[in-house]
Amino acid sequence: MKKKLYLIIGALLIGFLGLKLYQHFSGPKEISDLEVIAYHYNGKGYVGSSTCMECHRGIYETHLNTAHYNTSIFATLENIKGSFKEGENLVSLLDAEIRMVSKKGEPVQHAQIKYGNRRTFDWTMDITIGSGLKGQSYLSNQPDGLFQLQASYFVPADTWINSPNYTNRLNPLRPVNDQCLKCHVTFAKNPDDAINSNQYDISKIVLGVDCEKCHGPAEKHVRFQKNWNGVSKDSSLVKLSSLTRQQSLDLCASCHSGLRNNQTQNPFKFLPGDTLVNFSKNYNSLRPSTNLDVHGNQYGLLTSSKCFAESTQMDCITCHDPHKNQRNDHLYFNNKCVGCHNTNKKHCTIPASKMKENGSNCIQCHMPVIPSKNMQVQLSKLENSTPVGVRTHNIAIYPESAAQE
Ligand code: HEC
Ligand code: HEC
Ligand code: HEC
Ligand code: HEC
Ligand code: HEC
Ligand code: HEC
Ligand code: HEC
Repeated sequence: MKKKLYLIIGALLIGFLGLKLYQHFSGPKEISDLEVIAYHYNGKGYVGSSTCMECHRGIYETHLNTAHYNTSIFATLENIKGSFKEGENLVSLLDAEIRMVSKKGEPVQHAQIKYGNRRTFDWTMDITIGSGLKGQSYLSNQPDGLFQLQASYFVPADTWINSPNYTNRLNPLRPVNDQCLKCHVTFAKNPDDAINSNQYDISKIVLGVDCEKCHGPAEKHVRFQKNWNGVSKDSSLVKLSSLTRQQSLDLCASCHSGLRNNQTQNPFKFLPGDTLVNFSKNYNSLRPSTNLDVHGNQYGLLTSSKCFAESTQMDCITCHDPHKNQRNDHLYFNNKCVGCHNTNKKHCTIPASKMKENGSNCIQCHMPVIPSKNMQVQLSKLENSTPVGVRTHNIAIYPESAAQE
């Protein structure tokens, strides 16, 4: 009886080892259903976040709700936030009117000159830029390339506006090149290495700030994991948790350090782990930090604060979980402050009663919302520009008046 049992166990063991050996030497099988959207300059393939769902479901699902994922998308009548209803679909300029209309079921900006020949233009709205938290801008794929359209949508006022930095007349369409796209899409390639061209095959643009923007093109990782033989190790992705502080900061700073100049390499060549100054220099590097604008320069502001300068570890991930939408989760952020400002660091010196009155909301007083100098919108042709408020990352002591939410 016992002997029989040993025989069965032995046979099972041999069978198992045989299977493992077979898998080990049989090499990877081809996966035919894996669609590569685009190839990076280094030859590696982008496969998009839907392929990650199968094995990273938790991260995949929270990622779908982030401003990153939603920052660019193919435009449809359904996902454009502004209204197409007659009377609500208008931007009126001094010399022309732009109406948002549906033509053959597709969203279109229809412009008409007010005087003289009263010429009209129809431009398709093909790609939406902006998660729609503050606003959306629209790109049009024309026969001669990709262009930004003049009418944008401004969420806080729920209205169509003349795009920021446009004059109050019908402007020529603005060509969209890598310098504009680099912060709002994961990957795009145009045939011009000098980054001045607006020629793109838009079916090969990897939209959104997707997994592979931060983790690098992942085709190899997916193929490897789908064929995993239980033995060999997958080292195809850069391990982000073991980057140096500067490498980790550079990944976020590639889009969150404001205007950059001296662009010496195509911005889409930058990959996680790379050093950003090898690609471009910071436009503001020689300016005093008090002149930094709050829009889009979290890196410059954070690095000029004492919290950053006097701690060795702090980077963006200290406070942000890159896989989640944490907007307005003030409890989470305040816990991060308290986590550091505990026993051995300085404590807040305001009276306890005042702290309680403000709900112990550290960021309300030390990271107030400040009007942007660079991001201003004109809500109607009669009004002056209204600045958009952005929370500053220069963590510091501000006068009480700054802390109004
Ligand atoms: C077939 C399953 C599978 C698919 C599909 C898959 N992964 Fe993974 N991934 C894994 C497994 C298993 C690990 C853990 C590997 C290890 O620890 O050695 C992993 C690890 C990772 C890591 C951590 C790497 C590290 O060393 O820190 C990242 C990042 C990652 N995957 C990203 C992605 C992305 C992005 C996609 C989609 C483009 C994706 N994965 C698709 C199975 C998969
Ligand atoms: C490819 C450029 C790019 C990279 C890389 C990038 N971001 Fe962003 N990030 C953006 C853009 C664009 C937005 C604004 C999206 C929108 O609202 O349309 C944004 C928004 C955010 C927001 C605001 C989220 C919200 O709810 O409104 C946070 C926080 C943030 N990024 C943190 C990070 C961190 C941390 C990293 C590095 C791990 C990083 N980003 C890397 C482009 C990028
Ligand atoms: C804005 C940048 C960013 C985006 C977008 C992003 N990640 Fe990450 N991811 C990171 C960073 C940074 C880390 C390392 C965090 C750390 O150091 O603890 C990380 C860690 C990971 C890990 C390993 C550690 C863990 O938390 O399990 C996996 C797996 C992973 N990401 C998968 C994904 C997948 C899948 C997507 C898309 C659905 C995605 N990531 C999108 C920045 C990003
Ligand atoms: C250097 C990176 C960078 C470049 C280049 C850039 N943006 Fe942005 N953009 C951001 C960041 C970061 C945010 C949001 C956070 C902030 O305001 O600091 C943002 C916000 C936006 C928003 C508002 C999104 C929302 O809902 O809150 C729109 C619309 C937008 N950008 C359009 C554009 C267009 C169109 C271009 C090209 C002409 C462009 N951006 C170029 C980084 C960039
Ligand atoms: C990684 C640790 C760390 C985190 C997280 C952190 N700080 Fe700090 N902070 C410091 C250090 C170190 C200093 C320098 C003074 C000291 O040693 O306490 C400092 C200084 C300050 C100062 C004094 C600034 C000045 O100009 O005098 C304020 C205010 C402050 N922190 C508020 C905050 C708030 C609010 C948060 C959360 C949003 C926060 N800190 C998160 C480490 C941190
Ligand atoms: C000490 C904590 C802390 C660190 C470190 C930090 N952030 Fe933030 N960040 C916050 C808080 C708090 C908010 C406001 C969240 C809210 O209001 O919902 C925020 C908001 C943002 C926003 C949205 C701004 C807006 O008003 O639209 C962006 C973008 C952002 N962070 C990027 C970054 C980047 C990039 C880094 C690294 C250079 C970074 N953050 C480091 C605490 C931090
Ligand atoms: C109502 C606004 C308000 C709130 C809420 C608030 N602070 Fe302060 N904090 C201040 C002011 C004002 C000062 C400067 C007080 C002074 O000059 O004596 C200060 C000073 C500080 C300092 C510097 C202390 C020193 O010795 O230099 C730190 C660190 C700090 N706060 C951290 C925090 C943290 C962490 C929280 C959240 C738990 C917080 N603060 C909440 C207004 C606030």
